[in-house]
Amino acid sequence: MWAHKLADQMADYYENIGAYPVKSKVKPGDIFAQLPSSAPAISEDMTQIMSDFESIIMPGITHWQSPSFFAYFPANGSYPSILAEMLTASLGAQCMVWDTSPAAAELEEMMMNWLKSMTGLPADWHGVIQDTASTSTLAALLSAREKISGYGINDSGFSGNEKLRVYCSTETHSSVEKAVKIAGIGRKNLVKIATDSLFRMDASLLRKAILADMDAGFTPLCVVATMGTTGCTAIDPLKEISTICIETGTWLHVDAAYGGTALLLPEYRWMIEGIEKADSFVFNPHKWMFTNFDCSAYFVKDKEALLRTFEILPEYLKTATRGLVNDYRDWGIPLGRRFRALKLWFVIRSYGITKLQEMVREHIRIARWLGQEVIAHPDFEIMAPVPLSVVCFRNNPSCLTGNEKLNRLNEELLSKLNGSGKVFLTHTKLKGQYTLRMSIAGTLTTQQHVEKAWELIKETAVGFAVY
Ligand SMILES: Cc1ncc(COP(=O)(O)O)c(C=O)c1O
Repeated sequence: MWAHKLADQMADYYENIGAYPVKSKVKPGDIFAQLPSSAPAISEDMTQIMSDFESIIMPGITHWQSPSFFAYFPANGSYPSILAEMLTASLGAQCMVWDTSPAAAELEEMMMNWLKSMTGLPADWHGVIQDTASTSTLAALLSAREKISGYGINDSGFSGNEKLRVYCSTETHSSVEKAVKIAGIGRKNLVKIATDSLFRMDASLLRKAILADMDAGFTPLCVVATMGTTGCTAIDPLKEISTICIETGTWLHVDAAYGGTALLLPEYRWMIEGIEKADSFVFNPHKWMFTNFDCSAYFVKDKEALLRTFEILPEYLKTATRGLVNDYRDWGIPLGRRFRALKLWFVIRSYGITKLQEMVREHIRIARWLGQEVIAHPDFEIMAPVPLSVVCFRNNPSCLTGNEKLNRLNEELLSKLNGSGKVFLTHTKLKGQYTLRMSIAGTLTTQQHVEKAWELIKETAVGFAVY
């Protein structure tokens, strides 16, 4: 009975999603204080549990699926994806090896093939679903580390003589630094290359840095190029970077966590010119491809490097089908794996490539429209190009001068906007300047929502003219 009721409730939630404050308004500790400090000794009624869900939990939820959610990058959902997640939860299958659910393994293999051809990735690469881009990037670094050490670090640990270096831009996501720490390479060996005026990695500086390191006895291990940086969606010049990596024998990993979805559009394939020279690539369908978190698509050229890095075979995991099928536990860090391919299958089939392309194109069109609005407004300033669907801007009224004052003004403007409950935006700093980011990529977001948000931003900014 509750499953039927819940299905109705879930549909109602989406009907009324606009009525919730987009960003939760609770204060730290508010939810914790309402929870009993110990678990119930005896069974509680589902009616009571659901009532507490509404009264205690819902006020503490930020509504990521709201069409007025413009923060970070989205973690999108969609009806087909939710239906698949319901099935996944009902089946409760643990898909660590082919034997533990053959359909999960074979569907995953085919979904990765579909994604490869939908995004223009090399047909001979191999794909696997990871939980997040952070995990995918860690898998890339570990594979690069093992390949370059002849799989020796896995075997004997670091000898202490390795002088490995990893390169990324100053705009690269923090997950790269985290992976460098975890992989034992050492944060001091992460070289952050300066960006050009468009916030893209400066390939000539990358070349200089690698060559200087080689002269100094370091081994260049990996370059991470980003397609759609987190701050302002800059697109690193893959063609130049990939050439440098080939010349210097450096693993090239491409982090397209958000921007990769734009590759569904043939007119965006220029972003991956040179991809055949790269070694690995990640994009998150859970960001912009309308698939519920978590679903990160990781592709690698050298499958053997990936498998040799991760495979381990205790007696209790030996199966008769080994070698004939993909046992995905060997393709990443965790042993246990959720059945994530199902939601991709549902999403891709339910929308079809054409509709997915239309939705992504529409987000990009709306972002460009907003970018033009910002440019045309005398009290606002565009802070970065809009290559994809994120607009970076700040309020810059003529009555105010000085970066510090502008930073404070925009910080307060953001706080006021988010406090209204009508929108949720986040910020970044570009060249030391506090910048509002409006990410237009939600499944339910339309031009109308963005127009409303822009009106609110302008109105709210007028109230700050006292500065
Ligand atoms: C460019 C980029 N890479 C990696 C990540 C990390 O993504 P995940 O949460 O899947 O680890 C993000 C998150 O926003 C990102 O923007």
